[in-house]
Amino acid sequence: MAQYSRRVNVQDLKPGMILEEILELSIDYASLDPDSLNFVQTIFRGTSAVVVDDSGTRHVRIDQLQPFDQIQSIVDISSDLIIARVIPGTAQYLEQRGILACKVSERSAGARSAGGQAEDIEEPHVVMHQLPTLEGVAVASEEARKLHEIKKVQIKHFLDTLETALQNRNQSSGVVEEMLDQGRRGVYSSKGVESMVDEIMQEGSAPAMKAIAGLKCSDQTYTHCTDTSVILQECYTDIIRRTGRAPNIASERSTLIAGFMHDIGKSEVPKEILDSASRYTPDSREMTLLRNHATYGARILEEMGMGSSTINVAHYHHVKKDGTLLTSYPDAKYDQVLPLTRLASVVDVYQALIGNRRYKRNWVPAKAMEYLLRLRGSEFDERMLDQFLDSMGRFPIGSLVRLSTGDLAFVFMIAPRDHLDRPIVAVVENAAGELLTHHSLLDLMLEPDIVAEEAIDHYAHYSKTEDQAYDIFTSIRID
Ligand SMILES: [Fe+2]
Ligand SMILES: [Fe+2]
Repeated sequence: MAQYSRRVNVQDLKPGMILEEILELSIDYASLDPDSLNFVQTIFRGTSAVVVDDSGTRHVRIDQLQPFDQIQSIVDISSDLIIARVIPGTAQYLEQRGILACKVSERSAGARSAGGQAEDIEEPHVVMHQLPTLEGVAVASEEARKLHEIKKVQIKHFLDTLETALQNRNQSSGVVEEMLDQGRRGVYSSKGVESMVDEIMQEGSAPAMKAIAGLKCSDQTYTHCTDTSVILQECYTDIIRRTGRAPNIASERSTLIAGFMHDIGKSEVPKEILDSASRYTPDSREMTLLRNHATYGARILEEMGMGSSTINVAHYHHVKKDGTLLTSYPDAKYDQVLPLTRLASVVDVYQALIGNRRYKRNWVPAKAMEYLLRLRGSEFDERMLDQFLDSMGRFPIGSLVRLSTGDLAFVFMIAPRDHLDRPIVAVVENAAGELLTHHSLLDLMLEPDIVAEEAIDHYAHYSKTEDQAYDIFTSIRID
């Protein structure tokens, strides 16, 4: 899918666009007053400004701007910057602050690679040392309060997309089931999955779908593929962003497709075995058939002409770092396993733990995280597992946590790496066990005396129905 840049007036910004430059600012910026200076240095941290003086124009790092400089434009906006991703409310936010026109990049609708095949995925460049991000700002500073304002707009958008995300999740699972059913009749097509992926990207519902994966049960094949796909894509994009590069929309799309199709080989496994409540022994006929889904999948995707990374994910997502483990299959050298596939193998197990299996209960995300950590270096590549944990946080979005005040709250945004017990939350139940009807966001980075202490099993805590926790989560409205 092609990406191109163009100039737009700020009121024409649309969700999904990426801000690249601020091209035109109101007269307020002709001579920078201290308040405007503070605003641009906070919101556009890490960028540069083009300033005008008697000798012409010059580039200045944003943190080196001085009061009364005259800004002509703001450049070098990295997609890592929170403000860079346009969401509902961004246009109004920027307009109110005197920003008039921007350069944005967006994808061109309908542009595909030749033959409608999935493009290969640009591999995430894994870094040990992350670049500083905006989340790294100091606790309780004025900057952090301003950032909180932007995060609040993002969280409101997230809440607005929940309903669509649930519909997308249900619809996607149907699409995966249909693809496998058609495969059983010898007809393989990626059309259904591709248009589903386009819809998810168009509606920006992947972040909310990822949260729903931890809150709502899944089946062991179809919703499993849907949940694995959105979690894989969100983590992948996050890894790319944290390396300071712009996420490539074509790669995001291909990652979603790879996630949706990673278990396509299960179409050659009888449905009774796939849907069975039994736990098969390692040497049983059923287990052998199940294990073959990886090599079947690679062969099917090759015949369909899919990209090599999509094939690699299907082929090797069950290969463990220690290939001698019983859970590792098929036989393969670990260096044949692409980084994306290594990430997919973490996400695959994570989803299996938080999702339903007929023979076990769902685990809450925080418990699944602890389990995965125990397999670091044996089952999973250390660096990809670390990147996954960084991206999901100690308490992933949608987790129910007990705060040090005794209140129970849902997590809406994870905290920076060094402050994992300080996410942004909404309290839903007070320490006396009473459900609240009014909710407000609490940014624990701004509350020095409160931390998230432990994850609560929302299935056990709200035991009347499995979906009660989800119902409470979706009823949250932020003032
Ligand atoms: Fe699999
Ligand atoms: Fe899987």
